[in-house]
Amino acid sequence: MALEVAFLAPSVGVTARAPQVHTSAGPKSRTGFGVKMAAGACSVIAAAGLASSRKRSKTAARYTTQTILPSLAWIKSGVKASELQPTELRALTLAGNDVLIGKTEAGALFCVGNLCPHIGTPMSEGADVIGDVIVCPLHGSSFKVTNGELIDWCVSPPVIGPLTGLIVEKKNLLVFECRQGGFLGSGEVEVLVDTNAKKAYEANYWKGLLDAQGKDDGTYY
Ligand code: FES
Repeated sequence: MALEVAFLAPSVGVTARAPQVHTSAGPKSRTGFGVKMAAGACSVIAAAGLASSRKRSKTAARYTTQTILPSLAWIKSGVKASELQPTELRALTLAGNDVLIGKTEAGALFCVGNLCPHIGTPMSEGADVIGDVIVCPLHGSSFKVTNGELIDWCVSPPVIGPLTGLIVEKKNLLVFECRQGGFLGSGEVEVLVDTNAKKAYEANYWKGLLDAQGKDDGTYY
């Protein structure tokens, strides 16, 4: 039986062209050398593996499942109210919040959530503003921009729209307080948002995952 040692050569400092050693035909001394070298190499590799596994530290947790409380702050949007025409909309992400700043037909400034409460379609992808009502471009749900109140739920296209509406609980649209900053309102539009919204969303996500496996609060054991 031939015992290959060449593949171990680099780790024990022997050239890669080390001869093959045949345990049946080769001289005893060479056979012994080959076996000892292989055994030595194995122990070196095992020791190196052990050392590296001891060095390996645990992966640091990059998430939390704690309850994150809201932290409200006025955030500048970079949009001046004077730049917006009546019924015009501007989508932005402010401190992790997807918002839609716009003006009603009468020119009143408003700020609502950009994601439709039905299935999360961005309103900025073609919503209409009619009076002080915003209409979702996908299934025609409509909401008052002043308080987010639901007016119509999933009315289009016929049959399909109302069917999609059945599978999701009816909800109002999110509304954000907004104001015009600067002297006499000449500056940027500012929006009052929860700067912890993204953190809270992520914490709820991880808590949901861990709870589903019965690991976070132990209630499943
Ligand atoms: S996504 Fe807006 S009504 Fe369906």
